[in-house]
Amino acid sequence: MRMTEIVLRHAENTAEITACFPVMVLLRPHLASADEFAARVARQHAAGYRLLVAWRDGMPVGPAGYRVEENLIHGRFVYLDDLVTSEGERRHGIGALLLEAVAVEGRRLGCSRLVLDTALERVAAQRPCARVIERDLAADPPPHPDLELYEAILSPTPDDDPRFALSEQMIAELEAADFVVIGTPMNNFTVPSTLKAWIDHIVRIRRTFRSTPAGKIGILHDRPLIVVSAHGGYCGDAPGQPDFLTPYLRAVFETIGIRSAEFLRLEGLARGPEAVARALDHANSWMECRLPQLLG
Ligand SMILES: Cc1cc2nc3c(=O)[nH]c(=O)nc-3n(C[C@H](O)[C@H](O)[C@H](O)COP(=O)(O)O)c2cc1C
Repeated sequence: MRMTEIVLRHAENTAEITACFPVMVLLRPHLASADEFAARVARQHAAGYRLLVAWRDGMPVGPAGYRVEENLIHGRFVYLDDLVTSEGERRHGIGALLLEAVAVEGRRLGCSRLVLDTALERVAAQRPCARVIERDLAADPPPHPDLELYEAILSPTPDDDPRFALSEQMIAELEAADFVVIGTPMNNFTVPSTLKAWIDHIVRIRRTFRSTPAGKIGILHDRPLIVVSAHGGYCGDAPGQPDFLTPYLRAVFETIGIRSAEFLRLEGLARGPEAVARALDHANSWMECRLPQLLG
């Protein structure tokens, strides 16, 4: 059978928005009816929300809901709220096509960044009163520990020593957190050096762990830690690459007392649109199935 072409175009009227409901409800099962969906999209439209849709033979097979926003963290950015493809159309790269088209539209509208619904957003959404402490290590990289910090760490030094100012601030953020979410790429088989620098500030003898004859004992109390890692290639089976990121982060956080670590890996992100779509499908089902269990 020959498949007809996919056409990408915005849903422009109520009939077209309503036609997207059977696909959108796969992602948003709490939507009760097509009418409710159309009414909500119309309300959101007033606040800048738009539905870019992949159409095949005039039928919507993949809607993507997005809006342009601006804040002090990202500047002007395009936020992707919803992206789903109909069941029979998965693994054909439609998700990747939509993602790319939303990014292009965002750039046309002056956005420097595409922000996706993430594990962090889901955690925050389930706890509407939660305060989110965000530390963007790429935008604001912590300094690599210098000799002064090492000397302070290795000799008994009070926690209020000025050399510990940044370390104390980062540890306090961690102590205040009920959930910790880390988003990181894999660089050269492990964590990027900015994340390693942050780790060197938070893993501190006598402050976040004690050294005993029986080994290192964590001082922080346990809490869920979710690590979402992005990989250009694949780990594991041949011709895979070694993964030093997962065991390293597990060991580091166990050392300071955080034992409940969960890992979501997005792999193959440099292997073309189909691999990206597979990784996103995997991430979406993880967030639908596993994340609610973790949040309890
Ligand atoms: C310096 C550098 C080293 C990288 N090393 C690896 C690696 O060892 N394994 C891997 O799967 N991907 C590696 N990548 C690819 C990144 O993981 C990939 O760029 C990342 O997942 C984010 O995707 P993006 O570039 O689309 O944002 C590397 C990228 C850079 C820039």
